[in-house]
Order: sequence, then C-alpha cells, then structure tokens
Amino acid sequence: MILFLRFTLLCVLLIGAVPAAMAQDRSALLPDIPAATGEPHAEGNEYWRRNHMDLMRHDRDLTMREGNRKIDASLKGCFDCHAAKDGEGTIVTYQSEQHFCRACHDYVAVKVDCFMCHRSTPDGVDEGAPHAALVPQIPLKETDIQSVVAYLQQGASKTAEAKQ
Ligand code: HEC
Ligand code: HEC
Ligand code: HEC
Repeated sequence: MILFLRFTLLCVLLIGAVPAAMAQDRSALLPDIPAATGEPHAEGNEYWRRNHMDLMRHDRDLTMREGNRKIDASLKGCFDCHAAKDGEGTIVTYQSEQHFCRACHDYVAVKVDCFMCHRSTPDGVDEGAPHAALVPQIPLKETDIQSVVAYLQQGASKTAEAKQ
C-alpha cells in the first residue's frame, strides 16, 4: 500500500512537471523544488527525478551487492548547482525544509541519512552548529573516514569470500 502510494506520488510528480507551462507555475499541491543554477542535466529532469537515488548509489551498496566500484555521481557536486537559499539569500543546510533534497522527500515522506556524513551545501559554506547538531560527531575526522572505508572494504571482501 505504501509502495503503491509512493508510486502514485511519484507519477503525480512526474506528470505534474511534463508541460513546460506547468513546470513554471506548479500547483501549490506539488512540491516547490528550489531553482538550480548551471547546465541542466543532459538526460532531462524526468530521468533525474526517477533515477537520482540509483545514480548516487553508495560505494557500500555497489561494492557489497554488485562488486562494482564505479560511482556515477558525486553527492557533494549536486550542491554546486542545487544550493537552495532562504528568504534572506543564505544557503540552507539539510536541516532546513527548504533544502533541495527535502523539497520532494518531505512531500513523499522519504528520509535519507546521507548528511550524517556528507555535507549538504557547496564547498566553502560553513555548515556550522546546525549541521553539528544533526549528528554530534560531525565533522568527521580523518581517522573516522579511514575506519568507515576499512569497514566498507571488509564488507566487500566478506561478500567476495561468500561468493567463492
Ligand atoms: C552543473 C549543475 C548541476 C549539477 C552538478 C547537478 N544538477 Fe541537478 N539540475 C540542474 C539544473 C539546471 C536542473 C533543472 C532545474 C529546473 O528545471 O528548474 C536540474 C534538475 C535536477 C532534478 C529535477 C528537478 C525538478 O525540478 O524536477 C533533480 C532531481 C536533480 N537535478 C538532481 C541532482 C542531483 C542528485 C545531483 C548530484 C548528483 C545534481 N542534480 C547535480 C543542474 C545541476
Ligand atoms: C524532484 C524531487 C526530488 C528531489 C529534488 C530529490 N529527490 Fe530523492 N527521491 C525522490 C522521490 C520521489 C523518492 C522516492 C522514490 C520511491 O520511493 O520510489 C526519492 C528517494 C531518494 C533516495 C532513496 C531513499 C530510500 O529510502 O529508498 C535517495 C538516497 C535520495 N532520494 C537522495 C536524494 C538526494 C541526496 C537529493 C538531493 C541531492 C534528492 N534525493 C533530491 C524525489 C526527489
Ligand atoms: C556513515 C557515513 C556515510 C553515510 C551515512 C553516507 N555516506 Fe556516502 N560516503 C561516505 C564515505 C566515507 C565516502 C567515501 C569518501 C569520499 O569518496 O569522499 C562516501 C562516498 C560517497 C559518494 C562518492 C563520492 C562523492 O563524490 O560524492 C557518493 C555519491 C555518496 N557517498 C553518496 C551518498 C548518499 C546518496 C548517501 C545517503 C543515501 C550517503 N552517501 C550516505 C560516507 C557516508
């Protein structure tokens, strides 16, 4: 039922944005997606709406489930163009409901854990206290990153052993 609802909502999202006129004048019932800067995606918005979660699929999942180390998209890179601002023109972090990644997710009740570890603003923006409050151990120290990487690699070799 939940899956069906999500699918329906996704369709609403997709259909809602097809006619160019509607994309500019989105109904108040649809999520208000912050405007982006830079070149649009060659594959188009519809493709990205549907597939962004797979394009960014984590090392963790790719290496463990498929033994694939190729990453198609950089999460940090998203905010070079998708840096949402508040009314005062300040770039917002994932803590704000105006953040790009929350525009649709809040609408469809999806929650992601990405910003426990990854930054949610472009390079150079100080995420400061609000980000630290999200997860107390932020920012990650070099040693923390090494232990995450070691953990991921350990998982990958276990999967490889299991396959033999
Ligand atoms: C070089 C700039 C740039 C980068 C980097 C970029 N985008 Fe985009 N993205 C755009 C533009 C421009 C649009 C079109 C926005 C519009 O139509 O209002 C867009 C549209 C989208 C859409 C559809 C939004 C809508 O209004 O329907 C999604 C989803 C999206 N991007 C996700 C991502 C993710 C996830 C990343 C990082 C992996 C990313 N983008 C990186 C520029 C970029
Ligand atoms: C244009 C709307 C839109 C934007 C903007 C958007 N998402 Fe999504 N995202 C969705 C929808 C809808 C789903 C749920 C799809 C489903 O469950 O079938 C989703 C699901 C996901 C998932 C999978 C979550 C899960 O539990 O399965 C990840 C990861 C994700 N998004 C990451 C991001 C990140 C990171 C950003 C910002 C860079 C972002 N999304 C921006 C619409 C969007
Ligand atoms: C437990 C911490 C942690 C969480 C949570 C996490 N990541 Fe990562 N992620 C890492 C580490 C560590 C790396 C490897 C370091 C690097 O390449 O910068 C990485 C690398 C990546 C990369 C490739 C590097 C890049 O340029 O972005 C992507 C894409 C990515 N993560 C996406 C995600 C997404 C999407 C989520 C949420 C669904 C997520 N991550 C959640 C720790 C995490």
